[in-house]
Amino acid sequence: MHVVLLSGSPSQRSRGELLLDYARDYLERRGIAVSLIRVRDFAAEELLHARFDSAAVRDLQAAVGLADGLIVATPVYKASFSGALKVLLDLLPERVLSDKVVLPVVSGGSPAHLLAVDYALKPVLSALKAQEVLTGVFAVDAQIAYPEGEQPARFADELVERLDESLDDLLAALIRRSGSLEVRLPHDRSEHVRRSL
Ligand SMILES: Cc1cc2nc3c(=O)[nH]c(=O)nc-3n(C[C@H](O)[C@H](O)[C@H](O)COP(=O)(O)O)c2cc1C
Repeated sequence: MHVVLLSGSPSQRSRGELLLDYARDYLERRGIAVSLIRVRDFAAEELLHARFDSAAVRDLQAAVGLADGLIVATPVYKASFSGALKVLLDLLPERVLSDKVVLPVVSGGSPAHLLAVDYALKPVLSALKAQEVLTGVFAVDAQIAYPEGEQPARFADELVERLDESLDDLLAALIRRSGSLEVRLPHDRSEHVRRSL
C-alpha cells in the first residue's frame, strides 16, 4: 500500500509539513509506504505555465495515479487553500483520484476559516473524482510548535487526538478498500480500526 503526502505550502518552514511528518511516521510504523511531494519543489515555470510534459509533472501524475491514498496538506490563504496547491492540482488528470481515499489536512491562523476545507478544498478533490474524502483535520497555528534545537515539533494534545483519529480512519479505509490485512496495527489503536471497518 502506498500513500502520497502532498504539501501545498510554499513556505520553507511549513506547519503543514510538520503535520505530514507526523502522518508519515504513523503510516510507516504500520508498514505503509509513503512519499512526500511538495509544491515548492517544482520550478515556478512548470506550475505557472502548466508544463504538463515536464519530467517533474509526469512524475507527479504517475505517483498520484499509483497511490492508494493521499494526504493533502495546505495552509489557509485568504479564506481558501493555497493557490500553489491549486496550480499543482490543475496539472493532474481529471479522474486521477477516482479509486483513492483522501485525507485533507489544513492549517490556519484562525479557526474562523475552518470551513475552507469543506467549501474550497473538497469541491476540487471531488472534481478530480476522489471516491472517498475523509472529514479532515484543521489545525490552528497556536496548536503547532516548530522544532527548536534538539526539541522536536510539538502539537497540542487536542490536535494529536484529532490527527490520530483521522489517521486511524485513513488506515481503516485503506484496509477496507484493498481487502488486505498486511498492515500492522499497534495494539492500542487496533480496536478503533476494527470498529471502523
Ligand atoms: C498569504 C497568507 C494568507 C493567509 N490567509 C489566512 C486566512 O485567510 N485565514 C487564516 O486562518 N490564516 C491565514 N494565513 C495563515 C496561514 O494559513 C497559517 O499560518 C498556516 O498554518 C501556514 O501553513 P504553512 O506553515 O504550512 O505554510 C495566511 C498566511 C499567509 C502567508
